[in-house]
Amino acid sequence: MPAQGQGPTGFEAVGSVAVRTFSAHQSPVPQVIRTAHQSMDGHHVNAMAGDGSGAPHNHFADYDELPEGHFYDPDAEYEPDPEYAATLAPDAARQRRERVGPTGRPLPYFPIPGPLTDHGPAKIIAMCNQKGGVGKTTSTINLGAALAEYGRRVLLVDFDPQGALSVGLGVNPMELDLTVYNLLMERGMSADEVLLKTAVPNMDLLPSNIDLSAAEVQLVSEVARESTLQRALKPLMDDYDYIVIDCQPSLGLLTVNALTAAHKVIVPLECEFFALRGVALLTETIEKVQERLNPDLELDGILATMYDSRTVHSREVLARVVEAFDDHVYHTVIGRTVRFPETTVAGEPITTYASNSVGAAAYRQLAREVLARCHAE
Ligand SMILES: Nc1ncnc2c1ncn2[C@@H]1O[C@H](COP(=O)(O)OP(=O)(O)OP(=O)(O)O)[C@@H](O)[C@H]1O
Ligand SMILES: [Mg+2]
Repeated sequence: MPAQGQGPTGFEAVGSVAVRTFSAHQSPVPQVIRTAHQSMDGHHVNAMAGDGSGAPHNHFADYDELPEGHFYDPDAEYEPDPEYAATLAPDAARQRRERVGPTGRPLPYFPIPGPLTDHGPAKIIAMCNQKGGVGKTTSTINLGAALAEYGRRVLLVDFDPQGALSVGLGVNPMELDLTVYNLLMERGMSADEVLLKTAVPNMDLLPSNIDLSAAEVQLVSEVARESTLQRALKPLMDDYDYIVIDCQPSLGLLTVNALTAAHKVIVPLECEFFALRGVALLTETIEKVQERLNPDLELDGILATMYDSRTVHSREVLARVVEAFDDHVYHTVIGRTVRFPETTVAGEPITTYASNSVGAAAYRQLAREVLARCHAE
């Protein structure tokens, strides 16, 4: 990170968000944002500008945009500032003004979860949308890693024969002898033989590879074929607080197995024009599983992903999603940033790859929101 006051391309990371700054008027002393708190909709910035000497000389409150000569870079690193949210919470008026979330609803405060003294039984979450490339795998890895950071024991289940979840955690699926496929299809196979530890403390993985595609066909002739995964996960329930299943982009038998095993479904939706196409079919499938196989199943939430607050289009799509699903839409929205594709290459979650990034903060907030929803029950 460039040193404070470095001029045209430097950015300061004081407070909750970094603001890249440049000196438009070529003043001898570059303008440096000293503190900046950005509201969750990405528009309101509460910033304090200074001359780099440490003495602020200008206070800008509630700007829709940063003052001329400064711009906000959503990809910039920032220092997570949990205390900031806490300081806003008691002040209702300020909270209302500053904490309207990107979904257009007042943003509640999601407390930082306290440590757990004992673990389990696990809540099982299926990350599900038959549309491809909406952020299922990215959300599974990063929600899991954020829950693990908060001291929850997490098991991630790669339930896609593409093995993207395994790749995203640095595992080469082609080199695996045992995968979730063996756990499903071979009686007497124990989960411990298949489980892999990840680099994230508290987080394990049931990996998969192309073998799993055979299960879709082979399971058809099994007795109680829809609850095969549920049976396989049963012995693990007491070891984990959360089990998150990364589904493949289809509503076939594997996905039905994930929904039968799950307590909750999270549906990631990419903020683009066709986001809602196919969602009716998905909710219908969830309802059918609820009626016939798993009465405990609930839609926990719709997660807006790849949101770009700078485009009208993204904002309109999000507004439509909120109109359609109302309180089911998580207050937390995941912004679009190249940091996510980078993490796949690195084979680790964004919470460790770019721990201070906006993307990592978003998934930490999602973890807090998911925990808050669970505790509210
Ligand atoms: N918030 C984001 N911003 C930018 N890129 C993202 C974001 N989330 C995910 N991506 C990228 O979009 C691509 C698709 O994401 P991901 O693999 O998580 O989706 P998926 O729903 O699991 O896809 P599939 O249906 O193929 O399993 C990946 O390259 C990923 O790195
Ligand atoms: Mg995927």
